[in-house]
Amino acid sequence: MSRRALLTQQHAVLCLGAALGFVPSRSLATNHRLPPQADEASLYVHWPYCLKRCSYCNFNKYIPRNQNHAVMTACLQKETQTLLQLSQVSRISSVFFGGGTPSLAQPSTIAAVLETVSEHARLSDEAEVTLEVNPTPAGRACLKDFTLAGVNRFSVGIQSLNDDHLRTLGRDHDSQHALWTVSEARTLCPGRVSVDVMFALPGQSVTSWESELEKLLPVCDDHVSLYQLTVERGTQLFKQVESGELSVPGDDVTAVMYNTARGVLEKAGFRQYEVSNFAKNSAVSEHNIGYWKGRQYIGVGPGAHGRFVPRAVGGVQREARTQTLEPDVWIREVQRHGHGTRRRIQLDHRGLLEEVLVMGLRMNEGITQQHWELFSPEDDLQQIFGMSEKVQEFQAEGLLILHDRGLRCSWEGLAVLDSILPTMLLELEMFFKKQYTGRKTEIQRDR
Ligand SMILES: C[S@@+](CC[C@H](N)C(=O)[O-])C[C@H]1O[C@@H](n2cnc3c(N)ncnc32)[C@H](O)[C@@H]1O
Ligand code: SF4
Repeated sequence: MSRRALLTQQHAVLCLGAALGFVPSRSLATNHRLPPQADEASLYVHWPYCLKRCSYCNFNKYIPRNQNHAVMTACLQKETQTLLQLSQVSRISSVFFGGGTPSLAQPSTIAAVLETVSEHARLSDEAEVTLEVNPTPAGRACLKDFTLAGVNRFSVGIQSLNDDHLRTLGRDHDSQHALWTVSEARTLCPGRVSVDVMFALPGQSVTSWESELEKLLPVCDDHVSLYQLTVERGTQLFKQVESGELSVPGDDVTAVMYNTARGVLEKAGFRQYEVSNFAKNSAVSEHNIGYWKGRQYIGVGPGAHGRFVPRAVGGVQREARTQTLEPDVWIREVQRHGHGTRRRIQLDHRGLLEEVLVMGLRMNEGITQQHWELFSPEDDLQQIFGMSEKVQEFQAEGLLILHDRGLRCSWEGLAVLDSILPTMLLELEMFFKKQYTGRKTEIQRDR
């Protein structure tokens, strides 16, 4: 298989468009309508600290020499309050505590942030509140207290059930700890436990990956996230691979691993609902679905990303916001200004549609016509993509499906989404350029 599989889901969740290599563009055709669902949002809270650095990780995380939980709690609360007020949302639909290692936070911190949310917006008792957990004894010991604080879903980073792989990855847990943590989490939140597993690991073969999956199935709950290991520049793993000390499976083997996992999981009753996500009994991640459906979200904490309309200051367009990365600097900014927003980019109409396209195609249901119309009432999917030769080629290859009901990837297409997206973005851009040229000519003619 020559096209590289797009499985970089962890980036999509935290970094969205930036990770996919496009910067929201300034559209030629402007639109000052408020984007849909501006009255509600989900909330992502980033806990930036870890106990140790895993060899492959380039997330925004820090190994603290000492930690002041009281200061961190106060700042997370303050920034939550500031951004909720700025967005003027009346409802928070879900909350996700990610990291870093948020299971190192004190349960009282989680409770305090949730309390702040409830003071400024409606957060129903049924709303999904997820916490990422590292399966160490310390993480497991606090699970009960996290549920008492308001968490009702756990995402456990087991990564692998092979101890040799865990050691290579520099994880601070072994497979036994992972199994105990999942079991404890399932007792506390039955049906609401997800596990993160990585594949394409150094030294991994298709057979060993398959047997790991077979080991996983009897112990996991109703949700599995599968991540293809990305060898990130600047990590220890990158150096090890560069120097030849370690080697990772090639693209062809990786593609087989991905499709094998899809087959094994589907046979076990898991429905793939997104490139990297599988659920049984409809236990999908509501929070992540919000990202893939282009809904608003507020990002709080060092390095967090958000997408929302700052309605309190008269905003009518969605903004892509990034908070300051470094925790100590972020703390000072929050203490001084009430928030640590470092970068704001206004997402114009085309920028917003780019995100709806990139994120929507990750779901197996794709983008329904109805969903697209929420963001683009004037130009439907057929008008934009129907005439494109490239899109017709993808359809003929059996990778894309475009019809009156919407646009989606086929089973084969989901595995190579990475190679489909640049073309789709280009088609969208060309459509906008043509529209703009048309509109400009009309204006000149009117004069
Ligand atoms: C950044 S971690 C945070 C959660 C927690 N600290 C942990 O490690 O389990 C979120 C998930 O991203 C995935 N991840 C991190 N770095 C990755 C990489 N280089 N390639 C693929 N997946 C990665 C892991 O599966 C992990 O569970
Ligand atoms: S525990 Fe998670 S966030 Fe921390 S270094 Fe390891 S992978 Fe990265």
